[in-house]
Amino acid sequence: MSQQLPGRDVVLNAAETGAVEAAAATTHRGPHTDVAVDLTQFEALIAADQRIEPRDVMPEAYRRSLVRQIAQHAHSEIIGMQPEGAWISRAPSLRRKAILMAKVQDEAGHGLYLYSAAETLGVSRDDLLDQLHEGRQRYSSIFNYPTLTWADMGAIGWLVDGAAIMNQVPLCRCSYGPYARAVIRVCKEESFHQRQGFEILWTLARGTDAQRAMAQDAVDRWWWPALMMFGPPDDESTHSAQSMAWGIKRFSNDELRQRFVDITVPQAQRIGLTLPDADLALDEESGHWRFGEIDWSEFERVLRGDGPCNATRVAHRRAAHEDGAWVREAAAAYAAKQRVQEPAA
Ligand SMILES: [Fe+2]
Ligand SMILES: [Fe+2]
Repeated sequence: MSQQLPGRDVVLNAAETGAVEAAAATTHRGPHTDVAVDLTQFEALIAADQRIEPRDVMPEAYRRSLVRQIAQHAHSEIIGMQPEGAWISRAPSLRRKAILMAKVQDEAGHGLYLYSAAETLGVSRDDLLDQLHEGRQRYSSIFNYPTLTWADMGAIGWLVDGAAIMNQVPLCRCSYGPYARAVIRVCKEESFHQRQGFEILWTLARGTDAQRAMAQDAVDRWWWPALMMFGPPDDESTHSAQSMAWGIKRFSNDELRQRFVDITVPQAQRIGLTLPDADLALDEESGHWRFGEIDWSEFERVLRGDGPCNATRVAHRRAAHEDGAWVREAAAAYAAKQRVQEPAA
C-alpha cells in the first residue's frame, strides 16, 4: 500500500502512511508552532529527503534556526555590496564598470530573494533589517575588511564569491523548500561573479610589474579571511550537528574548506600568483592540499565587531535605510492605492 502526500512526489510505505495519517489528525499548521505538535510528518519528510514547505508543521527550533541562517545570509548579500560598490566609480574601464555594476546589483537581488524566503517563516523584513541595524543579527565577517585597490575586486570575486559558492551549492538541496529554491538562483549568478574575479586577476598578473604586485598583494590579504568564511573548525561549530540532522547543512565546515582549497590552489597556479601559506603542500596519497594553521583569534576579533570596517559598514547601511524611507513609503502608498482600485473578485 502506498499513498501520495498532497502536493508532493513522495510515495510512502505502509508504516509511514499510518504515521502521516496520525500526524495529520493532531498537528497545527503554519509557521508559528509554539504549541506542542506532532512532528511525525516533519520527521518522515526529513528522513525521505523531501522539502519542508511553509505550510508544513516544523519544530520551533528548526524555524528559528532557519530564520537566523537565512537572515544572516540575506544581510551578508546586501552588506557585501559596500566594499565593491565603493569601486564602481573607480573601475579602470567602461567594460569593468559595467561588469562590476551588474555584480553589485546581483547581490542586491540575492538579498531580496533571501529576505522573501525568510518571510515565509513568519518574520517581517522590517524586523530583520532592524536587527541588522541594531547589531542583533550578523552578516559575514568577510565584509568587515577594506578594499584597498582595484585588484581587491578580483580577489573578492575569485576567493570570496568562490568560497560563497562552495558553501551555497549544498544549500540548493537544503530541507527548507523556499531557501533551497532561492539559493539555486543565487548560485547561478555567483559562478559568474567568481569568473569575473578570476579574469581581473588573470589580466593584472599579465600586466605591468606594478599591476602584478597589486594582484599578489590583494590575494595575500584575502586568502586567509576567505578560508575563515567556512566557519570555525568542526569540533567548535555550535550549530553544525543539529543543522546536519535537519538536512539544512550537508557538509561540515572543514569538509567544505578542504574542498575550496583543493579547487583554488590549481587556479592560483594557472593565474600565476602565490597563496600566502608556507605550509601549503599536496598530499600525494589523499590528493588533498594540506594548509597551515588558521588564526582563529583574528576571526573572533572581527566577529566581535573589532574588524577594520565593522562600524563603517553598519553606519553606511543605516544611513542608506534612512535615506530610502521615502521610497518605501511611496511604494507602500502606491500598493495601497492599487488595492483600493482593484475591482472586487
Ligand atoms: Fe551573492
Ligand atoms: Fe556574489
